[in-house]
Amino acid sequence: MKKEIALPDYNVELGPIGTTLAQYLAQHTYSKICVLVDEHTKLHCIPLIEEVLSGALLIEIKSGEHQKTLDSCRHIWSSMVDGKMDRHSLMINLGGGVIGDMGGYAASCYMRGIDFIQIPTTLLSQVDASVGGKLAIDFMGYKNFIGLFANPSAVLVDPSFLETLSHRELRSGYAEMIKHGLIQNKEIWDRLLGLGDWRKMDWYEEIYQSIKVKKEVVTIDPKESGLRKILNFGHTIGHAIESIALTTNQPLQHGEAIGFGMMAEAHLSVTKNGLPLEKAESILNYLKKIYTDAIIGLMRSDKKNKGGEILFALLDGIGSSTYDVTATDQEIEECLRMTHKWM
Ligand code: GLY
Repeated sequence: MKKEIALPDYNVELGPIGTTLAQYLAQHTYSKICVLVDEHTKLHCIPLIEEVLSGALLIEIKSGEHQKTLDSCRHIWSSMVDGKMDRHSLMINLGGGVIGDMGGYAASCYMRGIDFIQIPTTLLSQVDASVGGKLAIDFMGYKNFIGLFANPSAVLVDPSFLETLSHRELRSGYAEMIKHGLIQNKEIWDRLLGLGDWRKMDWYEEIYQSIKVKKEVVTIDPKESGLRKILNFGHTIGHAIESIALTTNQPLQHGEAIGFGMMAEAHLSVTKNGLPLEKAESILNYLKKIYTDAIIGLMRSDKKNKGGEILFALLDGIGSSTYDVTATDQEIEECLRMTHKWM
């Protein structure tokens, strides 16, 4: 199976990575090729492409948002210089959002810019981060503070990379798929809502449909001067939640925070933007089903808790309270459900 989505400057190719990558390389000539990986993609993803890529220079960074720094770029650039990569070289970014954002940034600055291709290996990067040319690293604690817009020469998407992802990581990417339906394409939303168990979706087709939404938006507004801002639905509140969670010992995944952000911003859409209340309720009910346990996990990591139990200070009257009251996950879920109803 193979599908193609054409953007003005490059194509997104969906298909088995061995085939799409071999095709791309047969159509282009490069003096050298390097592949940027982390320990996970080195282990799980390199085996799928190494046959096509014999002789490529492997550059490894540690996984995680904390690695998206100038220091990592220094490591990437020195490895490229040591590997004698020149302006006619290619960089392949094999990984999730961090690898794609930072690898694309490093490639775009190296010798004033060399070709790079994105091979996104997480759901989040397949449906969102790899498409649209946003490249950046974090700086002085600010996310994506240093960067630029530059397009890859191709984005190669293979849903079979998702097989080694955890449920949590998949769920994180799923939030961006939900978002694409909500902001622009009701058919996607209706289909996802009707799925029952979202993990049983036709990944190939739904990833394709989701990327098409992103493509339509970034083609009209590549540099986010207007329409592209709709991709930020759920992100204003979601980023704040994500930043707070980052200071705990159980940070939320990006998509989990965006899941909560979309719940909150669905409410705001009712009060500020004319979204009918019953539509907001269906959004909230759906998101709550999928993302509630992430918020309970975050509560569990609160340093005020003891021995894995979630401890509350609760009222037993007006002007009267007690502390160290425990509650089960079911009780907390019920209280979140009630809060949503009241809201
Ligand atoms: N992830 C939002 C954007 O690419 O604009």
